[in-house]
Amino acid sequence: MRNGSASASALVFDEDDGEELTETLVDASGTTHEVVYRFHGPREYVAHPLDDTHQSLVVSAPVKIDGKAVDASTAPIVLANAVGAYMPSTVETAVGVGQNQLQLPGIGPAPGRRGDTGPVNGLVNLAKLALVAGYVVVEPGARGRSLVDASGNRYGTAPAAIVDLKAAVRYIRFNADRIPGNTEWIVSTGTSAGGALSALLGASGDSSLYDDHLDKIGAADASDAIFATAAWCPITDLEHADAAYEWNWGDNVTQPGGTPVDPTVSADLKSQFTEYQAGLQLDGLDGFGPLTADNYAQYLLETYLQPSATKHLKALSDADRAVYLAKNTFISWDDGRATFAWDDYLSHVGARKKPAPAFDAFDASTPENDEFGTATTGARHFTAYSATRSTAASPATSIDGDIPTLLRLMNPMHFISEKNPHRSRHWWIRLGANDTDTSLTVSANLAAAVHNIGDDVDHAYYWDQGHATNIDPNDFIAWIGEITGS
Ligand code: DHB
Repeated sequence: MRNGSASASALVFDEDDGEELTETLVDASGTTHEVVYRFHGPREYVAHPLDDTHQSLVVSAPVKIDGKAVDASTAPIVLANAVGAYMPSTVETAVGVGQNQLQLPGIGPAPGRRGDTGPVNGLVNLAKLALVAGYVVVEPGARGRSLVDASGNRYGTAPAAIVDLKAAVRYIRFNADRIPGNTEWIVSTGTSAGGALSALLGASGDSSLYDDHLDKIGAADASDAIFATAAWCPITDLEHADAAYEWNWGDNVTQPGGTPVDPTVSADLKSQFTEYQAGLQLDGLDGFGPLTADNYAQYLLETYLQPSATKHLKALSDADRAVYLAKNTFISWDDGRATFAWDDYLSHVGARKKPAPAFDAFDASTPENDEFGTATTGARHFTAYSATRSTAASPATSIDGDIPTLLRLMNPMHFISEKNPHRSRHWWIRLGANDTDTSLTVSANLAAAVHNIGDDVDHAYYWDQGHATNIDPNDFIAWIGEITGS
């Protein structure tokens, strides 16, 4: 039993506490609808919250769309996290569905926040699109790395955010008879750090590794497995991301700020990727065979990048396509198919966004270094390579003893490689082809890993799109319908 009956009663979802709201919403294909929905404002999803601002969720359930009654009791439940940059996320300001636009220090506008169904910094409010499609929407807040309590202790660093999202899922399942929707059809969504957490939530369903953390906050005694996982540009597999980054973007030697990348560092990391990729023993999609550092560029071209450019070009008028091709002469267009070389693709993308190492910086200055801090320490190293080269204020010479456990709790790849029987079996993964926030191999490996163990995966790259973009939300909404048959 994870919580006694006293605390369990604190977790009962009060169905009467809610209001009916009416909004005019635009669906994923651009059509306007009048949506009447029941909105249940912020409530805590754990019995012993450390922070009720962040450990709360809101629920929106459609009642009527264009005057027609909707039976939400059997609808899929879209769990739309709003995490960006591993920072805290909150429902405090939620009005109906969605949240206010946040600015993330060092990163810019947070993805996926708030507002209308129209693009928000190129990104779409999936919560509203799901609601107008007739799905139940749950928007959880979660602790994040910047939180500090009254005694100066940090309480939102790893693994707090994933523990909170799991607790939110447990709360939904614990209240299966009270929260509208089908708890067997929970579909998680998130972008960037939120995409990483979405993937982790899907991969790690019901893992006992989180039990102590969940007990501590009084999470409900229920399953935290989810049906399907959607992740846009997941910033994940962090302990291997520096190596993957140099493999992908390392030929571009100019770092942000204009200084050149240290060639030795870039080459060291790139060679780590060769070993890592071989160790994964993954086969590519579409019968590609074993994925290696040597054939990965060809794999990305064939499987993702050329099809993505083809789709983009096909959608243009003949005149616009001619203009595009005249500007981008590296692309050959034959028989309605785009082909090009890897090096030309890299030049087309241009400058890398991050220095080397991209994630575990020698001065421990990245969001990820901060995410691996403790209650009483600031940012920490999480790779041996950077720890031994640290230039941080109080340099470590090796990673701290608890780091391997934290990495285990934060990386979906481990749960997938051990074929966690309670993982999601349906995966939607998207990435902008110009997104240099992490390596393209990160999401391609995630897709290959779940595909190799028999899961259903729909992974595509958005041609000419950058970080945190979502240009096919209508396809995503339709995909939820397909996988649930609803
Ligand atoms: C996000 C972006 C990053 O480049 C990163 O390293 C971590 C998170 C984000 O947008 O959430």
